[in-house]
Amino acid sequence: MSKGLRKGLTSYGDAGFSLFLRKAFIKAAGYSDDALDRPIVAITDTESDYNPCHGNAPQLLEAISRGVMLAGGLPMRFPTISIGESFANPTSMYLRNLMAMDTEEMLRAQPMDAAVILGGCDKTLPAALMGAVSANVPVVTVPVGPMVVGHHRGEVLGACTDCRRLWGLHRAGKMDEAEVEVVSGRLAPSVGTCMVMGTASTMAILIEAMGLSLPNSACIPAPHAERLRCGEASGKVAVALAAGGPRPRDLVTPASVRNAMVLLQATGGSTNGLVHLTAIAGRAGITLDLAEFDRIGRQVPVLVDLKPSGEHYMEHLHHAGGVPRLLRELAPHLDMTAPTVTGGTLQDYADAAEEVPGQTVIRVIKPVGGMAVLRGNLCPGGAVIKHSAASPALMRHEGRAVVFTSVRDMTERVDDPALDVTADDILVLQNAGPKGAPGMPEAGYLPIPKKLGAAGVKDMVRISDARMSGTAFGTIVLHVTPESAVGGPLGLVRTGDRIRLDVEARELTLLVEEAELERRRAAFAGAPPLPKRGYARLFQQEVLQADEGCDFAFLKGTDD
Ligand code: FES
Repeated sequence: MSKGLRKGLTSYGDAGFSLFLRKAFIKAAGYSDDALDRPIVAITDTESDYNPCHGNAPQLLEAISRGVMLAGGLPMRFPTISIGESFANPTSMYLRNLMAMDTEEMLRAQPMDAAVILGGCDKTLPAALMGAVSANVPVVTVPVGPMVVGHHRGEVLGACTDCRRLWGLHRAGKMDEAEVEVVSGRLAPSVGTCMVMGTASTMAILIEAMGLSLPNSACIPAPHAERLRCGEASGKVAVALAAGGPRPRDLVTPASVRNAMVLLQATGGSTNGLVHLTAIAGRAGITLDLAEFDRIGRQVPVLVDLKPSGEHYMEHLHHAGGVPRLLRELAPHLDMTAPTVTGGTLQDYADAAEEVPGQTVIRVIKPVGGMAVLRGNLCPGGAVIKHSAASPALMRHEGRAVVFTSVRDMTERVDDPALDVTADDILVLQNAGPKGAPGMPEAGYLPIPKKLGAAGVKDMVRISDARMSGTAFGTIVLHVTPESAVGGPLGLVRTGDRIRLDVEARELTLLVEEAELERRRAAFAGAPPLPKRGYARLFQQEVLQADEGCDFAFLKGTDD
């Protein structure tokens, strides 16, 4: 089998000429024959001025390249789409599959023996890995790492759990404009990804637990020197992979996907992690079993005292022993024989865990896992609630629905003083799912109506087919499937209907007679019209529901 520069020749009808031409052009960049004879390790460059979370990418790319060269390989960087969470319109999720396609096709198209995937901001690592699993090129993943914490008036702050909390204070009139401006400069005090247990942290942890990155790579803070050493070590591992190490589909297996589900429950991880894990598994032809995910949630505790479920931040988790220590604690629930990019097993990662006397971050903070999967006539395909970050008093609640028919409708009316709403009501948001919004925005964290916020209401039951940032707190039911825009029961809810949430029983019930629901169903106007052209059309046509990871239908599974 051809190697390095000889791989995947451009088609000119003459292989010798194709290689000759390729060499002629690459020599224009000053490479020697010695360099060009080395195994090629490609590195995805996801640096972008629109993605400040990846602000340390230049140094990390250098460190990874150094590692590749130290091990005798030739590093070759290439750019891919980079998605900065708060810079993507309408929502980063809308672009995740585009980045996955970009990564997959460029991994296939260009000559390489292995690759290093560099990413971190929420959708970037899931997208890159979805692509890598489909291309099945040997890869090692390097997360950019979490930010360090911020400080304000003696308080430790972090993006973005505290962004929401402090914005909530501002909305309620308890923090003035001037202070909000000051705080905006302190919530994200360094490069790196959000330092709470948001989607970026969750995905970095799941990826490490699946053996797709080096031990400790999830939690080392982005600005630390250790992060660069992790990059250098990953470059070396990539050269070993180029000589014949495990490929992504050797690592993304039913056992490793289950291991990741355990970590997702035990970290109080982001609900988005479930969607992304489903999509990554789907690329390897594995169906994520939501019932099993829920069962795991009843068996494993939340073991990480990190916001939004707890008190600490990612740098504290790192200093407490990071993922290796978590793996050691969770070993009875895990398949420790699962292979890793290093050529060993997950047990090796756990064995490398540092003992940290007196640490208080890795400990049981809730007796059961972070998430529950709900079923019922309101969500036949399932819905999810992160109950570890919800109000215990609302875990069993019946209330009157107050319905918003779209994100726009919610934005326009939720703060209207005339809105008929009380703290016992249940806020319902429709048409915010994968096809409805489109892109399933993080709109599931419906704001508490201003007048209730001002009266001291901090949480209410909120239900939608949208997603929610992993950094958010509240009694929030998400990913209702099927979504309202394709005729799901959520779209049949009307203001005044009664809804019952029972998290212990895993039930979400719309208390309306079936005959009445049938009448409403008959009046359903149909799915939104297809956009005329471009990616918008492809997205609308192909995007799957949350229980299938919101991947595109034609990208699931393997060619073999
Ligand atoms: Fe990039 Fe949170 S905004 S990780």
